[in-house]
Amino acid sequence: MLTHTHTHTHLNVVFTPTIELCRCQIFNLGQYRREAVQSYKSFEFFRPDNEEAMQIRKACASNALKDVVIYFSKEHGQVAVFDATNTTRERRVSIVSFAKEKGYKVFFVESICDDPDIIAQNITDVKVSSPDYLNCDKEEALADFLKRIECYKQTYVPLDDEKDRRLSYIKIFNVGSRYLVNCVRDHIQSRIVYYLMNIHVTPRSIYLSRHGESNMNLLGCIGGDSGLSPRGHKYATALGTFIKSQHIKDLKVWTSHMKRTIQTAEHLGIPYEQWKALNEIDAGVCEELTYEEIQDNHPEEFALRDQDKYRYRYPKGESYEDLVHRLEPVIMELERQENVLVVCHQAVMRCLLAYLLDKTADELPYLKCPLHTVLKLTPVAYGCKVEHVFLNVEAVNTHRERPGNVDVSRDPEEALKTIPDHF
Ligand code: F6P
Repeated sequence: MLTHTHTHTHLNVVFTPTIELCRCQIFNLGQYRREAVQSYKSFEFFRPDNEEAMQIRKACASNALKDVVIYFSKEHGQVAVFDATNTTRERRVSIVSFAKEKGYKVFFVESICDDPDIIAQNITDVKVSSPDYLNCDKEEALADFLKRIECYKQTYVPLDDEKDRRLSYIKIFNVGSRYLVNCVRDHIQSRIVYYLMNIHVTPRSIYLSRHGESNMNLLGCIGGDSGLSPRGHKYATALGTFIKSQHIKDLKVWTSHMKRTIQTAEHLGIPYEQWKALNEIDAGVCEELTYEEIQDNHPEEFALRDQDKYRYRYPKGESYEDLVHRLEPVIMELERQENVLVVCHQAVMRCLLAYLLDKTADELPYLKCPLHTVLKLTPVAYGCKVEHVFLNVEAVNTHRERPGNVDVSRDPEEALKTIPDHF
């Protein structure tokens, strides 16, 4: 939901109109600038006395704010992150008056960093990978960025305890060693504060795996609470060997409350924590049925699910959207932790993956999370590195693509033709 920019100083702005839901988009001013000025040459662009560049930067900010308006008024946007330095009082005053005129609430996020080691680390880990320094020597990029910081410093005016006492903001000192929170005005703002106080930048990896193949998987049935198949047990052993080979420091292992994830974790030889929130999507009246049986017994429901798989809620069960809400505490704790292995289920793994890889609600229910494959996710500059590790134990394929015809009047063959053969 928010950007993780920890340069010398950075003041992001979070606008929220009055509805309290969380459709969110980031408006990164760097991107607007790169579109306006095709190639970045040097820090000179950021000199406060570079008037031509100043005009371009102002125009970019104003274009981004116009897009914020479109996002809120035409695209059902609910939270906009105006990701820019915003380090002058003049810029912030214009943002506040823009928001006042449009009826948006503003929340500033000021990240202040004066520890030279953290700054240097951030430049080498993050900034040299910025699109501004594509094909550029790392040393040159580092030197240029340090000069750019000097340019920012010349005009930087921090938020002021007294003068800005009516503004809503959080100041984050040295990537979370201290915080100052002022005038939190609503639920979303308090959630933002909570989130920002829980994230960290310590290098780590998150390992996601489904349970080993279950007896229900073998039958092609969804849901239920069956144990592992013989191949599922084999995978659990292979997972243990793989995890050992990674020599992961202080690894935490989480499972759901379901037999198949617990049996998988049992083979690891590491203590694990069980989370009910990690249980598989509740398919309600369709629990323990095959997709064919769902088509036979509930053809309309089956088609409705294909029409909008993210929002569709099984009768007496859940939707992916419900699952995302259920997983929020897990995600928050995942942010707080360092190395974690989550042994979970197909739908749950899709939700976690979508969060970590920033996928849309439409993409989420179709993300590929095959059995017996570990996904290793490592946060890197501007994203997350993903490694897929298949542990060489065969398993059934449980992935069903969206059929071309999603109409309730379709033939059963059309509804079923995307189900894997060996189901
Ligand atoms: O088939 C295994 C399973 O984990 C089921 O328990 C669950 O209902 C299903 O996957 C979720 O996948 P989809 O949303 O594609 O049906």
